[in-house]
This record gives sequence, structure tokens and C-alpha cells, in this order.
Amino acid sequence: MNIQRKSFGKTKQGEAVDLFTLSNDKGMTVAITNYGGIIVSVIVPDRTGKTADVVLGFDTLDGYLAGNPYFGCITGRYANRIGGAKFTLGGKTYELAKTHAPNTLHGGFVGFDKKVWRAVEKKAADCIAVEMSYLSKDGEEGYPGNLDCRVTYSLDNSNALKIDYFATTDKETVVNLTNHSYFNLAGEGSGDILKHELTIFADKFTPTDPNSIPTGEIAPVKGTPLDFTSPHVIGERTNEPFEQLVWAKGYDHNWILRRQGNSPDMAAKVYEPTTGRAMEVLTTEPAIQFYAGNFLDGTVKGKGGKVYNHRFGLCLETQHYPDSPNHPNFPTTVLKPGQEYKTTTVYRFSTK
Ligand code: GLA
Repeated sequence: MNIQRKSFGKTKQGEAVDLFTLSNDKGMTVAITNYGGIIVSVIVPDRTGKTADVVLGFDTLDGYLAGNPYFGCITGRYANRIGGAKFTLGGKTYELAKTHAPNTLHGGFVGFDKKVWRAVEKKAADCIAVEMSYLSKDGEEGYPGNLDCRVTYSLDNSNALKIDYFATTDKETVVNLTNHSYFNLAGEGSGDILKHELTIFADKFTPTDPNSIPTGEIAPVKGTPLDFTSPHVIGERTNEPFEQLVWAKGYDHNWILRRQGNSPDMAAKVYEPTTGRAMEVLTTEPAIQFYAGNFLDGTVKGKGGKVYNHRFGLCLETQHYPDSPNHPNFPTTVLKPGQEYKTTTVYRFSTK
């Protein structure tokens, strides 16, 4: 196993950015940049041993800087939506950036996805890793507290890419970090993901209003097109006239995972039948957002100039529930001084 570090260019402000390429002994290679902690590529074999890059993205830093729908990045300080772009903590109301007025999405206008993270390579007996850190200042994008964050990506010989998230604060705040990779197990740019088979280990979801803000209700998936408790091809029910799907223009919802306890447990499985590639998502988080690339519309040209059309990638964002700061009945996303925010998500690749 080895790690290579090379320059990936400079941001518009002149900050130097690197690309870290982690290779294991099983033919899997993952490239990550410290601009936004973006996973730039994930190269894995198919059932015949032929490799392909299974995440959407760009060949160059400039591709990312030009703007894109959160390809591969760390989303924070609060991944997903906060209704009304505000929340109250300790009797004080905090106003956030209204990125999608009146709401906020993915940490604000300049979220963690657009920050340059400090990065160091790490090697252990059974894995190689890159550790990224970033200090989000008190008041950044409206959030209280200096939040000291660390995100570590490690690759081992079981073709598992593990992401450990860690944060501490000096003032009470809210935190919800995730990774926003768009996967296409047939290879990025090769078509839509409607024939991928998906299983989500969840019996419930959080229904939303027409703007994707949770109503606060917890509903069963049973009897709805959101029931992925047994494997279903994504395209099978995506156009059903189920109000939640109509409003979100397809799958873009928060599933409440069955998992319990402190160690990473199965959240979702994806299988692509033509190549035989499979991916398991394990996490310590209580929920997962499955987003089927509903807003991809062919305006983004990715790696090798490939056009990313409607539903060319799917995201499985492990997380706390959207808008938790405004729903006391949801698991808390509050982090207090002296506490440690610690979560782990694993993307494990195989073939069948
Ligand atoms: C998340 C959201 C989607 C969309 C994408 C980015 O997955 O849930 O609604 O905003 O990010 O385009």
C-alpha cells in the first residue's frame, strides 16, 4: 500500500492544494484533495478485474473551483438543510446563510466543501490514511463557536474506504458532517444509476414539506416507494405519484437507520448488475440521505469532458436528520465545550 502526494494547483486566493493518491494491494486507488476534502476518484475492479472510476468529479482543481453540486466533498458545518436558515441555542437565535431562501443547505455559501484543509499522510500496519483538519471560526456562516475539525480517510486491503470525523468546540454549537460523493458503480459518466439495486437498512424516514424541510414527523417506509428494506432497482418506483417523490423530483430523503450502538453498522448496499460491482455503506450515524442525482441536468462536464446527465450518480450521505436543531424530537446535533463529536462511515467495495 502506498500514498503519493502531488500538487493539484492553487485556489483563486492563491492557496496551494494537493492531491493524495492512496493505493492498496488489491487494485483499489482513491484520490483525495485537501480542497474541501473532496474524494476526486475511487478506482475499483469489476467482476472481471477491469477497473473504473466510480465517483463523479473533475480532472483538475479548476473543474471544482468553477462550481459543482458538492461532488465528493465534506459537507459542513451542518450537512443538509436547516429550515428558515436559523436555530435557537441557549436562548439565542442564530441566523444562517439563506442559500436556498428561506432555508440553508450544506453549511452556507462557503461551507467546508470550499475550504482548504491542512493535510498529513499517515501509515499504519493495516492501512494508509490522510488526515485533514480545519478550524471553522466562531461566527463562520452564522454558526457559533470555534469548531476544530478533523476528517481522516483511510484505505485498507479489504477495499474499505473509512472516513472518521472528529470535532470539538469552545462554545455550544450544532454539527453534522458527511461526505457528498456521487457514485456510479458502472463507472462515472457511463449512464444513469436507475439500474443500480439498492438496499437501505431503515424502516422509517422523515417526511418533508415541498422544500425538503422535515415536518418533524417520523413515518414508516412500508407500503411506499421509499421501502428499500429488500433490494430494489432504483428506477423501478422513482416516477410513482407518491407526494414525497414528486416534491423532491425523485429520491432525496432522510432514512432513519435500524442500527444501534457505537460501532459502524450496515446502512445501505448498492449493486450494479452489468459490472458486478457492489458497495456497502456502514456508519455510526443514525440516518442516511439517499439522493439520486435529481438535479444533475447535463450542465456539468466532468472527467474527460463527460457530460453528467440526469441521475448519473447517487449519493448516500450518512448523517443526523436534516433540520435537527429545530426539532427537539430528533437526535441532537448539539456539541458542547468538553464534548467530542466522533462519527465513522465506511464505503466497502466488492464484486459479485
Ligand atoms: C443533497 C441534497 C439535495 C441536493 C444535493 C446537491 O443531497 O439533499 O437536495 O441539494 O445535496 O445538489
